[in-house]
Amino acid sequence: MKSYNRRGLTHWVGTAAVALTVAGVLAVFGSPTASAGIKETKHNLGSQQAGLNNEGTAANEFSGTGEICVFCHTPHGADTQAKIPLWNRVATASPAYATYNSLGTLSLDGGTAAVGSTSMACLSCHDGTQAMNTVANAPGSGLDGNAAWAAGIDTGAGWSGSHQSAGKMTGLAAVAADASGLKNDHPVGIQYAGGPNANGVPATGTYPKANFTDPDFKDASSAVLGGSQVWWVETGTTGRQKTDLPLYARTATVTFTDGSTSEVVNQPFVECASCHDPHSEKATFLRTENTNSAVCLACHDK
Ligand code: HEC
Ligand code: HEC
Ligand code: HEC
Ligand code: HEC
Repeated sequence: MKSYNRRGLTHWVGTAAVALTVAGVLAVFGSPTASAGIKETKHNLGSQQAGLNNEGTAANEFSGTGEICVFCHTPHGADTQAKIPLWNRVATASPAYATYNSLGTLSLDGGTAAVGSTSMACLSCHDGTQAMNTVANAPGSGLDGNAAWAAGIDTGAGWSGSHQSAGKMTGLAAVAADASGLKNDHPVGIQYAGGPNANGVPATGTYPKANFTDPDFKDASSAVLGGSQVWWVETGTTGRQKTDLPLYARTATVTFTDGSTSEVVNQPFVECASCHDPHSEKATFLRTENTNSAVCLACHDK
């Protein structure tokens, strides 16, 4: 009996030690749900299963499919108008949002290109003008079995959640839905650091302050990957990481909203996805935590 008690106690202490070790590991690496991914975010629009974290939070949800990626990506027959991976969405027809530069602040240096690139991708839902299941390729084989999907386009059938109306986004998340459009939002489609001065943009490596029109910005980095020059702003360890803030190049010549045109080959621009990763489980889909405004200070030298 005595030894049984001893074993019992030892067992309990051992379990406690394991529990403490697990707690220690979690403290270092974050809770298990921190790497749960997109299925536990508001970007899971498919019908929910018990336990997913937007269940019961009034987030938008469509009962016509349990898939997640299909609202944004398709393995075949993707949209090729913008450089967005296997993009399944249809761009909003002729969006003419007012952009931030039309506010006319005296300090703005960079040129603003027409809304495009990955920002266009976000706005295909976030301007609230079309149903969120308006896609190039519905789930499943051809049109078979997709009656529920088709019925939900613009009618709202199958949609629930208090931040949508007939499947179209409403509320604060519909960033371009009010009359101000993007005029009251952080600039997107804008040249990084005011665009290059007479020193131009280097073909590879660091884009330094000495080349900026507006020197109140941090150096940007670039590398040639898969034949394309990719751009980012560092948020920690040197080298391109998932938590860095990507900048996006436009096509050869861009017409700015003031009517001037400029060769912008491989020049970095800020877009919605510079600050947000649509798959991130971090708060408000930010690429990195915004404690002490770390997101803002990654770019702005203030
Ligand atoms: C709400 C829209 C949305 C959903 C849902 C979504 N994605 Fe994406 N995804 C995007 C956008 C936008 C980009 C481009 C982001 C960028 O430019 O950095 C992207 C990029 C990617 C990329 C390439 C870049 C990277 O981050 O690796 C992969 C791979 C990817 N998505 C996979 C998936 C998979 C798998 C799913 C489903 C589990 C999914 N996505 C769901 C919007 C979405
Ligand atoms: C398929 C439609 C769709 C696309 C495309 C999409 N989103 Fe969303 N997004 C949603 C929905 C739905 C919500 C939840 C809205 C709500 O509940 O108010 C949301 C919420 C958000 C939120 C707020 C999260 C929060 O915690 O409140 C952010 C930030 C966001 N999206 C950014 C983006 C960005 C950036 C892109 C492009 C890279 C993008 N989204 C593309 C549908 C979409
Ligand atoms: C320069 C960085 C930056 C850019 C560019 C940016 N955002 Fe955000 N966005 C943020 C930050 C930071 C927050 C979180 C604010 C907070 O938590 O208080 C946010 C919040 C949001 C929210 C949640 C708003 C709410 O009140 O619930 C949505 C939706 C969103 N962004 C969508 C977008 C879309 C769409 C674009 C492109 C048109 C975009 N963002 C461009 C930094 C940015
Ligand atoms: C990815 C880089 C990046 C991030 C992150 C970023 N900004 Fe910016 N921001 C810019 C660029 C580029 C401009 C345009 C500057 C110019 O052309 O003068 C800008 C413009 C602004 C302006 C308007 C300046 C003017 O002269 O009218 C304000 C204010 C601002 N950002 C605040 C913020 C805040 C607050 C955050 C964090 C929530 C933030 N920014 C995050 C790149 C960034």
